[in-house]
Amino acid sequence: MSLELTAPAPEEPSVADDGTWLECIACGAQFAPFEDVRYTCDDCDGLLEVRYASPPTWDDFEGRGVWRYNAALPFEEGVSLPEGATPLHEVPRLEADVGVETLRVKHEGMNPTGSFKDRGMTVGVRVAKELGVGRLACASTGNTSAALAAYGARGGMETLVLLPAGKVAAGKIAQASLHDARILEVDGNFDSCLDIVQDLAARGEAYLLNSLNPFRLEGQKTIGLEILEEFHEDYGGYPDRIVLPVGNAGNTSALYKAFRELVQSGALDVEDVPKLTGVQAEGAAPMVEAVENGWDETRRWEDVETRATAIRIGNPVNAPKALPGIRETDGTAVAVSDEEITEAQRDLAAEGVGVEPASAASVAGLRKLRAEGVVDADEQVVCLTTGHLLKDPDAAFEAGDDPEPVPNDTEAVLEHLAE
Ligand code: F0G
Repeated sequence: MSLELTAPAPEEPSVADDGTWLECIACGAQFAPFEDVRYTCDDCDGLLEVRYASPPTWDDFEGRGVWRYNAALPFEEGVSLPEGATPLHEVPRLEADVGVETLRVKHEGMNPTGSFKDRGMTVGVRVAKELGVGRLACASTGNTSAALAAYGARGGMETLVLLPAGKVAAGKIAQASLHDARILEVDGNFDSCLDIVQDLAARGEAYLLNSLNPFRLEGQKTIGLEILEEFHEDYGGYPDRIVLPVGNAGNTSALYKAFRELVQSGALDVEDVPKLTGVQAEGAAPMVEAVENGWDETRRWEDVETRATAIRIGNPVNAPKALPGIRETDGTAVAVSDEEITEAQRDLAAEGVGVEPASAASVAGLRKLRAEGVVDADEQVVCLTTGHLLKDPDAAFEAGDDPEPVPNDTEAVLEHLAE
């Protein structure tokens, strides 16, 4: 099975371009990377993965941000704003409260457009230029559309985004709008939007930049590389576990791929690979269902609902890449309620870390798994927070305290404060 953690480094096939090619994870078919536009396998429709003849080692990395890791990417540089190099916050009160040895928070909301999607887009838009495509498109619960709009604008390209009507947070639509994407609001959920945009891409109407596009996940691998490097610098070792919110399972797949490539190059020992631990909202938890049942695939949930609109997804397209990642790293997956998500959002905010609801799912999930004894007290854990608080101002207001109206007078203000 090509997705095993201990799979040997691959042999370079004749279709490779400068040591890079595309390979189907289901049937192993290999394709030249930049000759044609292709998102899935021609032969069996399986998911494609970017493969390299020489997987990277730590000494190959130089510089800052996503492109520090260009030895692990298909290009030297991309369309950049720039992205990556996000903080790995210490959260001592939360760490003590949750009850683990170490808790750090990798805040991906600190990327240029406020989410981890920028890491994928800097690579994806670079590939789009290589392929010479016209219009760029995505379906989105919001963040992908914001990132695509910004990186498309930066690259001087036309962008089209399909959003589920009424289910995208205000900050994200504002971004797509100002960066001049053409925004279509679909009377359906995210999964229907993705169905449509895949149809458009198949008809040659647009270049698809959802995480089904294997090149996007290459950029997102750098989250894992940054965490491992920084953690090693601070503690002399690697985290036992990385906990992350799951929607389409792109990040889960990307982090697993980063670890696999480091194992292949000899840069990381198999026993040092962090346990990938996915968290979904109870109302949209097909990955959790698949992990709990030991399935190799997810079942599509037609009706999904959660306050964490970013992960309101019923058909995680990257499940065939992500499920082996969770299994091979001895990780797990857990579902949390909207109330638990909001509580975790407040917990993070109390440490000065402002995140949108989907991001807080990671902390809510860790808390739950620790309470259940699945996570041990002596574990060193990194929680991924994927988007910034300002992405969803309505959710922030709901989770936080209301402003108090006072008269325009100092004495009255003092009186009010004393009440
Ligand atoms: N967190 C946030 C804030 C997201 O926006 C997303 C996905 C995820 C987590 C889930 O990540 O798909 O890699 O498992 N948002 C996509 C979008 C679907 O359209 O912005 P995943």
